[in-house]
Amino acid sequence: MNIKFFDSQQQLDDFAAGIFMDLINNKPDAVLGLATGSTPIGLYKALVQGCKDNKVSFKEAYTFNLDEYSGVTPDNEQSYSYFMHQNLFNLVDLQADHIHLLDGTASDAEAECKSFEEKLAQKPLDIQLLGLGHNGHIAFNEPADNLSAQTHVVQLDEKTRQANARFFDSIDEVPTHAMTMGIGSIMKAKQILLMVRGADKAEIVKKALQGPITTQVPASLLQLHANVTVLLDQEAGRMLD
Ligand code: GLP
Repeated sequence: MNIKFFDSQQQLDDFAAGIFMDLINNKPDAVLGLATGSTPIGLYKALVQGCKDNKVSFKEAYTFNLDEYSGVTPDNEQSYSYFMHQNLFNLVDLQADHIHLLDGTASDAEAECKSFEEKLAQKPLDIQLLGLGHNGHIAFNEPADNLSAQTHVVQLDEKTRQANARFFDSIDEVPTHAMTMGIGSIMKAKQILLMVRGADKAEIVKKALQGPITTQVPASLLQLHANVTVLLDQEAGRMLD
């Protein structure tokens, strides 16, 4: 694992944006695995600016998003689809039919997950961006005795629902289920970029990067991937050896 520490959010975001821009400039039809949450917002801003400044073009690129809430329509402000369109897709020159998002309202959720996994198999991820949940989840792969390899429907942890309640009017509105890429889908990416910031993540960063590999800390499985870059601010990295 290549772990890098940054003194400011700007530096961390710019470094992450540089990785994406270099990749796309070397391979214009790169397949990008993207994430939501508060962590990647600055990265997306930097990519939007890069596109405006003609430093990068997404015209030939493809995207796959990690996860989506079940039962939430794409035009709902709480959906990850809405988040991605607001923060990136509507602001860069990506082609609409190159964007892959799970549909949380699909009538047959299992079929939706299967079809997403098949599309992923046809377009292997060149890079997968990840954030880290307080409980060690990546995407919505929650701590459990067993983890699913492929895209699947998952019941959200209470801890996750509480953490994400800040985006909703009340905890009752936070969906109980989601669709998520599996650990295997993520681990197949050629490169993984994990971004984490904030003192509240320091403990889980320590467990994920330097603790035992366990399904109870899904991010710890990243220790088995050959090409992981971890970008941390000083607070998130303060417990590392
Ligand atoms: C969410 C998402 C994850 C994200 C994580 C951290 O629940 N499903 O993909 O990485 O939680 O979010 P944040 O960046 O807001 O801390």
